[in-house]
Amino acid sequence: MARGFLLASVLASIAVAYTLMGLLRVPEIPSLPQNPWWGRGKPQPEDTSVRPFTINVPDEDIEDLRIRLALPLRLTAPLEGANFTYGTNSDTLKQIIGYWKQEYHWKEREAKLNKFQHYKTKIEGLDIHFIHAKPRQNPNNVNKPIPLLMIHGWPGSFVEFLGILPLLTSPEEGSGRVFEVVCPSLPGYAFSQAAAKPGLGLQETAQIFLKLMKRLGHDRFYVQGGDWGAGVATQMATLYPENLRGVHLNMFRPQTTAGKIKQVLGAVLPSGTLMAKEEEDMVYPLLEHAKWLLGESGYFHIQATKPDTIGAALAQSPVGLASYLLEKFSTWTKRGNVRQPDGGLLKGFPIALDTLLDNICIYWFTNSITSSMRYYAENTSPERAAIDTANIPSEVPAGLAAFPEEVLSSPRSLMAHKFHDIVTYTRPEAGGHFAAMEQPAILAKDFRAFVAAVEAREES
Ligand SMILES: *[C@@H]1O[C@H](CO)[C@@H](O)[C@H](O)[C@H]1NC(C)=O
Repeated sequence: MARGFLLASVLASIAVAYTLMGLLRVPEIPSLPQNPWWGRGKPQPEDTSVRPFTINVPDEDIEDLRIRLALPLRLTAPLEGANFTYGTNSDTLKQIIGYWKQEYHWKEREAKLNKFQHYKTKIEGLDIHFIHAKPRQNPNNVNKPIPLLMIHGWPGSFVEFLGILPLLTSPEEGSGRVFEVVCPSLPGYAFSQAAAKPGLGLQETAQIFLKLMKRLGHDRFYVQGGDWGAGVATQMATLYPENLRGVHLNMFRPQTTAGKIKQVLGAVLPSGTLMAKEEEDMVYPLLEHAKWLLGESGYFHIQATKPDTIGAALAQSPVGLASYLLEKFSTWTKRGNVRQPDGGLLKGFPIALDTLLDNICIYWFTNSITSSMRYYAENTSPERAAIDTANIPSEVPAGLAAFPEEVLSSPRSLMAHKFHDIVTYTRPEAGGHFAAMEQPAILAKDFRAFVAAVEAREES
């Protein structure tokens, strides 16, 4: 009996060890098809020119929106005292729709958006839209602009970056360092065409954006992003390390199995064992964090499974679309906003209501809410899970900024399994998920400090 038990224990230990070794194995870098075709039908010869683009929403689309917004609202009165805890509060929504109808003027906003240089170019069968923000010609610009790719997420768009662009394209006092920034729209978002075929996820986007940067003459550049933008940036740091001077993220979580195991073990081991004590609040108490995430991620499950179903409703009603997107802006800038009657949106919100509406209008006029939500399905499909890049470490210099109200953050020691060369790891004093919109100056400063550290190393 005892011998049988011993044998069983030894066999079990060997099985556990093998499983762990399997889990901790570093996979090969997958080779993606290099020239897929995401457009309709069969591949065709492609016009690779880069064409200037001006946003010009047709009058009939503006009129169509006006008509829909003028319809009587069919909102359900909020529960007493619920604020935003049941989702977007319909009293607040009513006020915002009123503002949208009466005080927000698309043509004026459009003119503001067009102050930036927009372009489109065809890649892999899709029209890809981007802003190309270059430093103004200025005799004081002695430094060559540093190329930077900035990538937005959901439910954002290039609108996220309009506040930070002028900060990055102006030379920094002292160093004179200045950036040339390319802000593309993810495929299926805003003015970037949506794939006609399934399968365009983070890795495929990484390839498309690398082709974009090369087409613009940039073989080596920095990349910055949050949300899906951070996902694409991380893929680029994994798949194309030779093309990146550095990767800077404002949203991240442990991707590697080792990092995840550490996160779980850290919950039972004495404080300070696996990570710095002052970083533990980011992930512990584990159960509380998990519960909060579960309560906030219903949208994720819907979008990862049945995006087209809800898409039909959101694409039909601007009020529904606003409700769906505003809730994310409310909670992801500050968790406590769910307990505010206005979700924090109307008083002292870090993002101007006009800017929130610009972003909603971009989704509306381009009718891209459904294709934007499909991105979740593409990135969580079983086929996707088979291409495991999460466990491939990156040697690219990394800068990680954990904003205090960010939805997902992770201690440095858990991220170090993925990023072997973390140059800066910071916890900025203010800001949430939409850091570029909420705190453009803080994000710009953090990014600049990261680049300064990387460049100083290269010079020495
Ligand atoms: C809703 O807001 C009111 C007013 O600020 C507050 O007194 C109440 O506690 C809040 N309720 C919830 C559920 O957050």
